[in-house]
Amino acid sequence: MKNFIFQNTTKIYFGENQLENLGAEVKNFGSKVLLVYGGGSIKRIGLYDKIISELKKVGMEIFELAGVEPNPRHTTVNKGAEICRENKIDVLLAVGGGSTIDCTKGIAAAHYYDGDVWDLVTGKAQVKNSLPICTVLTISATGSEMDAGGVISNIETNEKLALVHPSLLPKVSFLDPTNTFSVSAYQTACGSADILSHLFDVYYFAENDGKMDMIDRIIEEIIKTVVKFAPIAIKAPKNYEARANLMWAASWALNGFLGTGIIQAPTCHMIEHELSAFYDITHGHGLAIITPRWMKKILSEKTAPQFKKFGVNIFGVDKNLSDMDGANAAIKKFEEFLFETLGLKNKLSDLNIDDKNFKIMAKKACPSGELNGFVKLTPKDVEEILQESL
Ligand code: NZQ
Ligand code: ZN
Repeated sequence: MKNFIFQNTTKIYFGENQLENLGAEVKNFGSKVLLVYGGGSIKRIGLYDKIISELKKVGMEIFELAGVEPNPRHTTVNKGAEICRENKIDVLLAVGGGSTIDCTKGIAAAHYYDGDVWDLVTGKAQVKNSLPICTVLTISATGSEMDAGGVISNIETNEKLALVHPSLLPKVSFLDPTNTFSVSAYQTACGSADILSHLFDVYYFAENDGKMDMIDRIIEEIIKTVVKFAPIAIKAPKNYEARANLMWAASWALNGFLGTGIIQAPTCHMIEHELSAFYDITHGHGLAIITPRWMKKILSEKTAPQFKKFGVNIFGVDKNLSDMDGANAAIKKFEEFLFETLGLKNKLSDLNIDDKNFKIMAKKACPSGELNGFVKLTPKDVEEILQESL
């Protein structure tokens, strides 16, 4: 187990009718706010009107950036930063999902950089400071509402890269499960696959030298929570208990707590980001397709016990099976969950993806030559995983 420092200072308002505190919280950071949102879902569910009303009550001057794309573009981030500079914005309010929040994080950092945000994303320039960020979450998936990272896409170069800095941690996030009642069955499935992948990638199927048993057990409980409530939320979108459990699970999957004491190596995320970068697909769906193929690729005498444990503790696989048989049964159960219970299509070709870019994608997924993780992968291994996913 490695030494670690854990600090997460995001203040969470969880539950219904918490928005009455929004105005006062945002006002703490100044009087000019940039409201950032996506393609219109917040207007369709009536959330936009509520937000405007709360901000007006405390006399905020409101500016807007609408139309943030899923897989947010660096050009949209630059546009937002321009609005901030022109209008001397004090604070940013992201209302939406991971894409909107990540775009807002890009804007927050770009505000203090006199140039293209892409320089900050690629590391050509360093983030020095960020505008304060508040969020109102509308979909349970990424954990961006309670973490210090964002993922920005450059469609001209087919790159999708993370921007991480402590100053990007949201100051306050509002998590009202009723704001996720309108999330489609498809996006609920994708979000759930993303939460699971964070739990796997960040710790559960990470390099296992000296892991903490306590964290492993907590992760299993969160995995069980997603496995239990995602199907309920898909069948009954207004089930508060299901939406609340998914929402809090999503935040905890990536807020830093579960990644303590290990070297984090998000293997499947690195591969999926290449898929989104080249084909603009939904992040969680890409993960759902890749993850079981990755599991099969790295299955060995060394990894089998952890996969078997996953199967026994999550899906009730027979504990008397051998490690290898138990691991295979676990992967099969997980596939059934993703592709039958959640109803996600299970092949990249279903998303109109062919193999013509696989070689270059595999190379880009391994920026330091190899991909660290539970098992180290070479670009050739990654290419084989992509081929298996076709
Ligand atoms: O744009 P609108 O109209 O809001 O519609 C969105 C979008 O079409 C819709 N939606 C969101 N809330 C809704 C709703 N529809 C109906 N009712 C609601 N209440 O859902 C669609 C997807 O939204 P998006 O924000 O893209 O989803 P998600 O939260 O899954 O975010 C995905 C992005 O986050 C990145 C992903 O790579 C991807 O770019 N990630 C960010 C991470 C982070 N910051 O820590 C970590 C993750 O691993 C991930 O990489
Ligand atoms: Zn993710």
